[in-house]
Amino acid sequence: MASSFLGFSLFFISLYGADGFEQYQVDRCDFSSTELKDMEYIYSIYYNKVEFIRFNSSVGKFVGYTELGVKNAENWNNDPAVLGRRKAEKERFCKASVEIFYPSVLTKTAPPSVRLSSVSPPGGKHTAMI
Ligand SMILES: *[C@@H]1O[C@H](CO)[C@@H](O)[C@H](O)[C@H]1NC(C)=O
Repeated sequence: MASSFLGFSLFFISLYGADGFEQYQVDRCDFSSTELKDMEYIYSIYYNKVEFIRFNSSVGKFVGYTELGVKNAENWNNDPAVLGRRKAEKERFCKASVEIFYPSVLTKTAPPSVRLSSVSPPGGKHTAMI
């Protein structure tokens, strides 16, 4: 049986490019309701398509995936201003966005509808196709 749990994501992407190299960061909210406890804020920074550092609100700190990412994570996790700002984003960015997005889009669902009809294929082996 399929799970009744539904998850959704909101994305906000910022791009920076110079001399063919590209850095971008993604603010993402995964959520299953408008309750703060059902939201997860993820902030990732990529350099040339490689995610090198991520803040996950469920973990509450930065995790580095490359040498640079590990070094930055260590610095940012020890800086209360940087860490505090990311921790606050779950409420500031996610809650505010989800409260707008949820009622205007996600509650306006309709059951799927499919119409099938049988046709004869032109010169095929099968006698009928749907
Ligand atoms: C965030 O961390 C939680 C707890 O470790 C984990 O379950 C979840 O998969 C992580 N989310 C992402 C997008 O990495």
